[in-house]
Amino acid sequence: MKNGVKDPKILSAYEKAAIEGVDPRCIPQRLIGSVPIGDEIVYPNYPQEDNVNWKFLYNRQTNFLPGRACEEYLDGIDLLNFSPDRIPALKDLSKIFSETTGWQVARVPGLIESNDFFELLRKKVFPSTDYIRKENELDYTPAPDCFHDMFGHMPLITNKNFASFYQSFGEAALNAKGMDSKFLETFHWFTVEFGLIKNPAGMRIYGAGILSSNEEVQHSLSDVVEVVDFDVEKIINQDYDVWHLQPILFAIQSFEELESGFKDWTKSKKLIN
Ligand SMILES: [Fe+2]
Repeated sequence: MKNGVKDPKILSAYEKAAIEGVDPRCIPQRLIGSVPIGDEIVYPNYPQEDNVNWKFLYNRQTNFLPGRACEEYLDGIDLLNFSPDRIPALKDLSKIFSETTGWQVARVPGLIESNDFFELLRKKVFPSTDYIRKENELDYTPAPDCFHDMFGHMPLITNKNFASFYQSFGEAALNAKGMDSKFLETFHWFTVEFGLIKNPAGMRIYGAGILSSNEEVQHSLSDVVEVVDFDVEKIINQDYDVWHLQPILFAIQSFEELESGFKDWTKSKKLIN
């Protein structure tokens, strides 16, 4: 960093987006003070149209899951017991996590700054929004909403290997600087958001960015995508574009592989103990 200006090579995709003048919802906010966690989270008084939008997204996406989403994600969907008729309550989801992997949920106001995000992950707290996209954004929304956070991310947090990996991710990211921060952001993109897994039944999806997007869920398993075996060095050096469908994706063999591969690499870099 020179005179408070970061080297452009290490800017995150979202920092670049902020400079390029994109939607303000894509600019991360710094958390001020504490955020409500678990039972502290008050259920919003959603207007009926919000529950209608949840139902539309839930039903449309659920239809695409068989044969596409991985078993571990589907197990999480069963545990979280979503209803199509009503946006879930974050405190109920938090309780299910506390009984499965010991995680909790915090309510956050939108995309949050990376250090706030990593600190929550390190403490086994998943930050989630509780507002939902409007009718004109059902096909695409540039910023996170609760459909992405709940339907996309939360099911896997009930999986012990994924949850352990994700906690280590928060710890490593807090310790990382410069290019290591950039590598971790790229790793997050190609695993948590856009990861594939070779289940015994075939190639399946686990990435939240795919599972919460109608277009990505159909695109990701198509012939036009090049799928590369999980390899930390290859992943962290792969370019990507957050605004377009992904031409290259990486496939793990198992969540044990994701957890051990990530921990071995971050230990070798002295980012975790
Ligand atoms: Fe996400």
